[in-house]
Amino acid sequence: MNPLKHVAIIMDGNGRWGIKHHNSRNKGHEAGLATVEAAIKVALEKNIRYLTLFAFSTENWKRPKTEVNFLFKLLESFLKKKIEEFNKNQIKLKIIGEKKFDKKLNKLLNVCEKKTKNNLKLQINLALNYGSKKEIINAIKILNKKGTKINKKNLSNALYTSDSPDPDLLIRTGNTKRLSNFLLWQLSYSEIFFSKKLWPEFKTKDFLNVISQYKRIKRNFGKI
Ligand code: IPE
Ligand code: IPE
Ligand code: MG
Repeated sequence: MNPLKHVAIIMDGNGRWGIKHHNSRNKGHEAGLATVEAAIKVALEKNIRYLTLFAFSTENWKRPKTEVNFLFKLLESFLKKKIEEFNKNQIKLKIIGEKKFDKKLNKLLNVCEKKTKNNLKLQINLALNYGSKKEIINAIKILNKKGTKINKKNLSNALYTSDSPDPDLLIRTGNTKRLSNFLLWQLSYSEIFFSKKLWPEFKTKDFLNVISQYKRIKRNFGKI
């Protein structure tokens, strides 16, 4: 049985779910939060140490301003509501991506990170304004500036995810098979599962089902 330390998720399909059920993409983003909560619960129960959630990409700025604003408002109210509970459950919140939002949100994110920084049960890496290519270029610049040798270890250590092992498992919901600029370096040996379900439809049992399939895979890492 494969150990499972780190799960990464591309939470895709909110907009389509919202249109289908309520004729509103934003309703889909709201509904997706319940799946986020369920996934965190599974991670806690299954002793998964790291959960990386793709919430907003560097490319998502191309969406209509109304949707972008709604997403950040939703994030703000979600964090305000949940941060004490996260803390109580020994969850550490870390933002990966460029924290360049409005002052109020930047401040809230910093407060949440600071409050939970010593928690050890589960680390949630929340990918916000995250783009993998940008992350890699940024890492190379950091190494160059310090005159540090460019090798695999040093580059990994200069990524936003420096304090997490590479994901064992990537799940993408929403019936789309692409990486959309997510963790291109870190996913080099991850097991990848694509679900046809839209993110708000992806239930605890679906997550558990992926985990149990993952556990039985023969992972080779180049060996036989
Ligand atoms: C993913 O759902 C969430 C974000 C990118 C914020 P989408 O909003 O991409 O949903 P679809 O893919 O349009 O259905
Ligand atoms: C990926 O979903 C980003 C997030 C889930 C936050 P997108 O819906 O933005 O991906 P593309 O544009 O369809 O590839
Ligand atoms: Mg999408």
